[in-house]
Amino acid sequence: MSDSPISIEKHGDILVVTSNNPPVNALGAAVRIGLDAAVKQAASDDGIKAVVLICEGQTFFAGADITEFSKPPVEPFLPAVIASIEALNKPVVAAIHGTALGGGLETALACHYRIAVPSAKLGVPEVKLGLLPGAGGTQRLPRVVGVKAALEMTAKGDPVSAKLAHQWGLVDALADEGGLLQSALAFAEQIKAVRPIPRASERSAAPDDAAIDAFRKENARKFRGFDAPAANIACVEAATRLPFEEGLNFERTEFTKLMFGTQSAAQRHIFFAERKAAKIDGIASDIALRPINKVGVIGAGTMGGGITMNFLSAGIAVIIVEQAEDALNRGVGVIRKNYEASAAKGRLTSDQVEKAMGLLTPSLSIDDLADCDLIIEAIFENMDVKKEVFGKLDAIARPGAILASNTSYLNVDEIAASTSRPQDVVGMHFFSPANVMKLLEVVRGARTADDVLATVMKLAKTIRKVAVVAGVCPGFIGNRMLMPRQVEANKLLMEGATPEQIDRVHVEFGMPMGPFQMSDLAGVDIGWHRDPARIETIRDALCAEDRWGQKKGAGFYDYDEKRNPTPSARVTEIIEDFRSRSNMAKRDITDQEIIERTLYTMVNEGAMILEEGMAQRASDIDVVWIYGYGWPIYRGGPMFWAGVEGTDKIAAALAKHGFAVSPMLAEKAAKSEGF
Ligand code: 3HC
Repeated sequence: MSDSPISIEKHGDILVVTSNNPPVNALGAAVRIGLDAAVKQAASDDGIKAVVLICEGQTFFAGADITEFSKPPVEPFLPAVIASIEALNKPVVAAIHGTALGGGLETALACHYRIAVPSAKLGVPEVKLGLLPGAGGTQRLPRVVGVKAALEMTAKGDPVSAKLAHQWGLVDALADEGGLLQSALAFAEQIKAVRPIPRASERSAAPDDAAIDAFRKENARKFRGFDAPAANIACVEAATRLPFEEGLNFERTEFTKLMFGTQSAAQRHIFFAERKAAKIDGIASDIALRPINKVGVIGAGTMGGGITMNFLSAGIAVIIVEQAEDALNRGVGVIRKNYEASAAKGRLTSDQVEKAMGLLTPSLSIDDLADCDLIIEAIFENMDVKKEVFGKLDAIARPGAILASNTSYLNVDEIAASTSRPQDVVGMHFFSPANVMKLLEVVRGARTADDVLATVMKLAKTIRKVAVVAGVCPGFIGNRMLMPRQVEANKLLMEGATPEQIDRVHVEFGMPMGPFQMSDLAGVDIGWHRDPARIETIRDALCAEDRWGQKKGAGFYDYDEKRNPTPSARVTEIIEDFRSRSNMAKRDITDQEIIERTLYTMVNEGAMILEEGMAQRASDIDVVWIYGYGWPIYRGGPMFWAGVEGTDKIAAALAKHGFAVSPMLAEKAAKSEGF
């Protein structure tokens, strides 16, 4: 078994089975074969009285090997290996560190005892891949932790700490942080003679219909559009009603349905897309990075404050600079208030709040940024002002410091040209609220140095962002694709659609809100020329009447004091007025036409972005839309969705509406293939 990731070693009468399958000890075929052999060895050797199952490296088994899901299955299958562990006539102790996830926790559940270091995390995140724990997890978990906890764990997929797992009885004992193997051996010594051997499958899960109903209701909004949460809930319910073996069959049927559906394919696509996005084509993965220990942020407004919090939360010191004292104090106050709100919700301790705030230095002088390793400019979008700021930074920043702009659409090369060191300049486009939204578009200028790009991509992971490399073009990836959508949405209003209809189509598609709801939330006046007498568009007319969106109680919708929207008679009048002045006839617009003109056009723009090399790969565009704009993850991002919808269908519809189909999309359509 020398090539096997599984090794065995006897410690007296205890067999230690160790997995070493970096990076995350995924339960691939070689691991399953090794485990199967180890179980047989333990069963046949009379000198063995108990088994400890432990993993080397960063973690206990973090799940089934997801890369195998799209390949022909290889025996032994995980459920069978797991069943053989549970059936062993000698007690097995799972010794857990890192993250016992998915098939990993299912393996641990089949072991007769579980011991974990306090820092370990346990969970069944399959739902996030559009799946359910399909190796007995939905049947064993409720039998061990009860229905309520099992619902939370399976249908939401978030891991729990070993300490909580211990309180729930999912973990039998907590081990010493640095001495897991010793603790597990000592534990095995104590239980090796205990009979009967406790098996999760032999326990029962008490029915709790009220809890299941309440859980479904409480989470209806969160689960909207997804197939997997309901399937997870149904399996947990089955665990309370069916004998174990029948429950397993039920679980298998549900798992197979999900596995072969498009939602799981989309969610698995995003899992890998997110990790691929971190890789920069043409740059060696071992390139030396620049150290980032001190960050400067220019601008203490909403963006600057949010950006700052990312670094403080990651333990990185920040100097935040504003021009006026009151704006600086206000900005710092908002940061503190945000942290305190998290503390009030129990997400942070007051010590953590003070620790983060202790890393923050407010300043009124840009000169104080002289020794920062990274300086991020987060002031308003005006090229002249940005150039002035970068000119100043060029004069004061230490050699080798990275100079970043948070611009959302301006030309990063032009900004870089205002310095004598364009190789150190890069775009870091955060999404609002910057302390919450996961996306970071990293804009690679024509002269951005490789190590600058690689450093910023790595840093993104440190501050828990999902980063995507974009090229220099107006709006980069995300906002550029928003443009055709907005243009078409506005034209559709003129032709006869209502804001409500267009927004409804987008929400039914799975977006958190439609284009007009988004406009009202962000501010209809953003980018408005601010001349009430100059009315050339519906938007101008709204702005001239002070209908700037939610903040004014009126925009494309009317709002009450609680910001609940209702369709606006005044907006209908404005639209009708525009229509009659342009001599346009009103017609009925179908929902399908809205999809074709506002979503297919995005796919077309995405294809152009790829053609121009402004995104490295189609899956990067998907990541941008999932993490920056709330595109429904179960549809896998616009470019993945194009493959599901049919690129031929999309290209034909675009041509029918008179759009110029991008050559790349036309090529994909001709072959009926996705991106
Ligand atoms: N299968 C295959 N590869 C996996 C994997 C898995 N389950 N989990 C992680 N990897 C790979 C990643 O793709 C990445 O590869 P790369 O280096 O080539 O890009 C590498 O391992 C490292 O992963 P991360 O970059 O994510 O490492 P982190 O240290 O940030 O996170 C982790 C580690 C928390 C384990 C995270 O990788 C994770 O959440 N993994 C997925 C866990 C999961 O979903 N498990 C359930 C699988 S489905 C299942 O078990 C079905 C069963 O019920 C039948």
